[in-house]
Amino acid sequence: MARIRTRKALLPVAAAGVLTAALLTGAGPAQAAGTQPCDIYASGGTPCVAAHSTTRALYGSYAGSLYQVRRTSDNATLNVAPLTAGGVANAAAQDSFCAGTSCVITVIYDQSGRGNHLTQAPPGGFQGPAAGGYDNLANAIAAPVTVGGHRAYGVFVSPGTGYRDNSTNGIATGDQPEGMYSIFDGTHYNGGCCFDYGNAETNSLDTGNGHMEAIYFGNSKGWGYGSGNGPWVMADLENGLFSGVNRTYNAGNPSVSHRFLTAIVKGEPNHWAIRAGNAQSGGLSTYYNGVRPNVSGYNPMKKEGAIILGIGGDNSVSAAGTFYEGVMTSGYPSDATENAVQANITAAGYATVARPGPAVGSAISLRATTACCTTRYITHSGSTVTTGVVSSSSSATDKANATWYVRSGLANSACVSFESRNTPGNYLRHYNYQLQLNANDGSELFANDATFCPQAGVTGQGNSYMSYNYSLRYLRHYNNILYIAAHGGSTYNAASLWPDDVSWVSMAPWTP
Ligand code: AHR
Ligand code: AHR
Repeated sequence: MARIRTRKALLPVAAAGVLTAALLTGAGPAQAAGTQPCDIYASGGTPCVAAHSTTRALYGSYAGSLYQVRRTSDNATLNVAPLTAGGVANAAAQDSFCAGTSCVITVIYDQSGRGNHLTQAPPGGFQGPAAGGYDNLANAIAAPVTVGGHRAYGVFVSPGTGYRDNSTNGIATGDQPEGMYSIFDGTHYNGGCCFDYGNAETNSLDTGNGHMEAIYFGNSKGWGYGSGNGPWVMADLENGLFSGVNRTYNAGNPSVSHRFLTAIVKGEPNHWAIRAGNAQSGGLSTYYNGVRPNVSGYNPMKKEGAIILGIGGDNSVSAAGTFYEGVMTSGYPSDATENAVQANITAAGYATVARPGPAVGSAISLRATTACCTTRYITHSGSTVTTGVVSSSSSATDKANATWYVRSGLANSACVSFESRNTPGNYLRHYNYQLQLNANDGSELFANDATFCPQAGVTGQGNSYMSYNYSLRYLRHYNNILYIAAHGGSTYNAASLWPDDVSWVSMAPWTP
């Protein structure tokens, strides 16, 4: 491998990206790669000035830290590095460090050497939900994938989550040219403002049109949009998500929802483009390539050079999405360079992992595992949801009340929803952080509130269920009442017994 890497490094600048892409495509997934996206951008004359990924190294020689996690039990931190230089993150190190507790992603390191690390976003035009108006940090295990067959974790952004760097080095300012790509989960999005990655204001405030240039992904129609019902890849240029030259509708920008989505925005004086593709196979399509928007304020651009992830330029925190990797370049990358990067991405071999927990379509009863409560099951009486003792001598009603059909998640099929066995069309959902049983009203809010993402049980027993729209919170019993609970805080968020209270065993259904 070392010899091959050396040869690639010595290739003439112009040919390196193309040849490497061809080699990688031919080799198929899971090959150690001597050349990674930022090597390709450098070969094209548009080097990365920021390179962020929790899943893999974006330079063939990068062996430093990819990201940092902090665990709740003792606030200790761990830097996670690639398994090998240029390789996939050592997720096993995170898993053992976080075992029995919960972890958040505290830092997403910049691999470019410029120190443009992303950390917890501060308050700006909008306040985040965390202490001091900061945004939430991402749950470190909420977006599991494999890359080239190796387990890794993305950055799961539920509303309220955000990362930022307001003091950067080498990022484009003013009307300077830049390029960006990112890999997102094309099935995780919403219409809130604004799931972005890229260039934004350095004071976290809306300082006017043209002060941002970031990749946006989601189905917001508040500013621009494309064809179909979304989601769309657009450019957040401040006070506007642009799908093309027009402020609102641009027919050339299609809805796109590949499970792994490559999204590109790039801009130079009076010229910009939107491109995208399937990060698992094939090439990139160009959705827009032309002059700056035909409304005032965006030509010339007034980029400020901060970097955001998961939020709007003014720290709008209503958006959802999942990020795996992304870079920002100095200079306007050629389409050919980006095509070579896309070939590298598809060769990297992103894949989903099997959903843990009970099978969709099955009927189950969910038993508590805390020592107090091992005879108690999640049950309902009307809309009230509690844990209750159920045994073989319980009444038929009590047994049916404690039986649930596992359904595909109403908001995302990677997660699940629980439909009542004896009240069809009614689902477990949270409301003011407490669980209730309600009829599905078909709304996006209901779907989000009724969607839980199963993971291995925090204690190692059974499964724990993360709330889809409050991803630091898990299904918990506390004084026999059901909540979505954060790990640490008062009453039902108390850290004490949290790992046990959020670990549930799937049992044969009391009512088959
Ligand atoms: O441009 C869309 C959004 O408008 C920006 O992200 C935010 O700063 C402003 O609210
Ligand atoms: O449970 C938290 C929130 O409370 C839910 O998302 C919403 O339905 C209610 O306002």
